[in-house]
Amino acid sequence: LDNGLGLTPPMGWMHWQRFRCLIDCEHYPDECISEKLFRSIADRMVEDGYLAAGYEYVMIDDCWASKKRNANGRLEPDPERFPSGIKNLSDYIHDKGLKFGIYGDYGTYTCAGYPGSQGHLKVDADTFAEWGVDYLKLDGCHIDYKKIDIGYIEMQKHLNNTGRPIMFSCSWPDYQEEMGMQANYTALQQTCNLWRNWKDIEDEWASVTGIVDWFALNQNRLAPFAGPGHWNDPDMLIIGDYGLSYEQSKAQMAIWAIMAAPLIMSVDLRTIEPKFRDILLNKDIIAVNQDRLGIQGRFILRKEKIDIWTKPVLPKEEGGHSYAIALMSRRVDGYPYRLNFTMAELGIKNSNGFVLKDLYKKDAPLKEINDSEPIIVRIKPSGGEILLATAKPSSTPATVEGI
Ligand code: DGJ
Repeated sequence: LDNGLGLTPPMGWMHWQRFRCLIDCEHYPDECISEKLFRSIADRMVEDGYLAAGYEYVMIDDCWASKKRNANGRLEPDPERFPSGIKNLSDYIHDKGLKFGIYGDYGTYTCAGYPGSQGHLKVDADTFAEWGVDYLKLDGCHIDYKKIDIGYIEMQKHLNNTGRPIMFSCSWPDYQEEMGMQANYTALQQTCNLWRNWKDIEDEWASVTGIVDWFALNQNRLAPFAGPGHWNDPDMLIIGDYGLSYEQSKAQMAIWAIMAAPLIMSVDLRTIEPKFRDILLNKDIIAVNQDRLGIQGRFILRKEKIDIWTKPVLPKEEGGHSYAIALMSRRVDGYPYRLNFTMAELGIKNSNGFVLKDLYKKDAPLKEINDSEPIIVRIKPSGGEILLATAKPSSTPATVEGI
C-alpha cells in the first residue's frame, strides 16, 4: 500500500501468541488483556532497548472490546479492563516514543466473539483515527469469503479518508489460502502494508517449521509481492515463550530476517530470559531484515537435512549483491553438525569474492572467501545460524584472516 508506511518490515509487539484471550483479571491481574499489560509492555520496550533496536509498535490483538457497541454504534473497550479508555492508553504509548496498534475484524464478530466491523467500517475507521491508532490488524472471522477482498479494499478507503497514516495489516489471504484458494496478491499489494498469508503460529517448533515449509513451497508465487510498503507476514515471533529451545529460537529469527517478515514479538518482555532477549535485539540480524531493498529471501536448497536460505541485501558490487545466508537444521542427531557448502552451490557469484561474518557470534573474525571455497558452519540439532556475505569491491586487496 502506497501510504508512506512500512518501507521496511514493521517491527513491534503484539499480545496474541503469548496472552491470547486471557481476560481473567481476578486470578491473573498482570497477564490479562488490560491497559495495565500494555502500559507495562510499553515501559519494557523503551527501558530494555527494544524501541532503540527498531521495535516501535505496541499492539492490542483480539479481546479488548466491550461485548456490545455503545449507544452511538461505536466500539468501546471493556470498561473493567481498560478503565482509562483507549485514547488514554494510546497517549501513554505515544508519550514514550512508541506507536500504537489495535485489532478489528471485517466480519460480524471477531474470532473470539467481540463486535466486528461489518456494517460499521466508516465509524470504526474514524474511531481508530480519533484514538490515535497507527496500525490496524483487520482479521477475517465470521465473514463471507467470496466478498472478503472487496471488504478490505473498502476499509482501506475509510482509513485513508481519516487523514491519519495507519499501517494496514490484512488477514484476508490467510483465510482464502487455508481454504485452498489463491489470494489476489496484486490487490493485496495495493490495499495493505502487510498481510497474513497462512496459519496462526502456535507455541511449538512444529508450527514454525510448518509455516516455513509453506512459505518455501509457495515462494515463487509470494516473494515478488514483498517490498517497501507491502510485506508477506508469516506471523509473530515466539522467541522467549515456552515452545522453542534457544537453538530453535535462533532459527526463527534467522529465517524471519531472511524472509523480510514483519518482526512482531509476542512474549512477556517483563520476564523474558536474557539469552532470548539477545536474539530479539541482535542488531546485525535486524539489519538484514530491515535492509532497504526489501527483497524477500528464498529457500535455496536442503543439504544434509539443513535448509539454506539467502536474501540479497546492500551493498551491491559489480552489479551483484551482498547476501545474508540463513541455515535451519532439520537434524536431530544430537551433536553440532559440520556443514560444508560454497557460494557457487547457492548460485551466488562475485568475482572478487565475499567477506563473511557470523551474525550470531559477535566477536568472530571475518573471513574472506571466493565462490568455490568451502564455508563451514557447525549447527546444532534443529538450530539456526545466519551469515552475512558482503560482496567485496574490486579495489580491496584480499587478505584471509580465517574463522
Ligand atoms: C486469528 C488471527 O490469525 C490471530 O492472529 C489472532 O488475531 C486471532 N484470530 C484473534 O482472535
